Amino acid sequence: MSDNITPHSGNEDRAIPAELTWVDGLPYSSKFQDVYFSSDNGLLETEYVFLQGNDLPIRWQQADIKNFTIIETGFGTGLNFLCAAKLWLATAPEHAVLHFVSVEKYPLSLSDISTALALWPELSELSTPLIHQYESLMNTTSISLYNHRIQLSVYIGDATDQLARITHVADAWFLDGFSPAKNPEMWHSGLFSEVAKHAKPLTTFATFTSAGGVRRGLINAGFKVNKRTGFGKKREMLCGEFIGKPHG
Ligand SMILES: C[S@@+](CC[C@H](N)C(=O)[O-])C[C@H]1O[C@@H](n2cnc3c(N)ncnc32)[C@H](O)[C@@H]1O
Repeated sequence: MSDNITPHSGNEDRAIPAELTWVDGLPYSSKFQDVYFSSDNGLLETEYVFLQGNDLPIRWQQADIKNFTIIETGFGTGLNFLCAAKLWLATAPEHAVLHFVSVEKYPLSLSDISTALALWPELSELSTPLIHQYESLMNTTSISLYNHRIQLSVYIGDATDQLARITHVADAWFLDGFSPAKNPEMWHSGLFSEVAKHAKPLTTFATFTSAGGVRRGLINAGFKVNKRTGFGKKREMLCGEFIGKPHG
């Protein structure tokens, strides 16, 4: 168990399997009636929304970087993780460690995550070790990957509940999750307050949605919120940084 978490029972106690179907070869949630990633191109969407939205291609080139923590809501297929891993391994100093922390209420089965990640052969060097250790990740919460350059932790359970139990502080937030209109149970003020509790000055965030409730929730929690052009069919997305009072 990492030093960064409070005592925690095993992930397997809280796992509710994803209700997933395949539409035109892409994973689709029958529970939420929503896509796991854009049908326009999930990989480019992740690079645009989450990597560029948090300025990671520039921030990770700093020679003095030692550690960096990303916290994500909704691990899903692991596509965001793999895109971040690819950029980190290509740009960050070799001795630096990326901590990628995610929460997931409805984990994919090994078979579904393998099928989903086979959609991205350009990521296979990185996805193969993840798939090999996926069951261990689900059972033990944390695994070390890519010559120990990346530590991946996935906490199974509701996002707000799990975030309340961890002590990681984010340098960047990936606010993913199905659309707020289809998943209001996740996008509420309790979540935004946990996002702020795990932020510090200059912590950034990015999210694919520009929903008014998300924008207002993040502003109320202490974030400066900017709108950018969205990816694909989405008109706008949100990104910004924490300007609120740091939590003790
Ligand atoms: C759009 S998908 C995320 C895609 C993912 N980031 C990827 O790279 O594939 C949304 C994810 O949020 C998860 N989710 C939905 N409600 C949640 C909640 N209340 N707490 C934690 N995870 C939740 C879903 O099960 C799903 O895996």
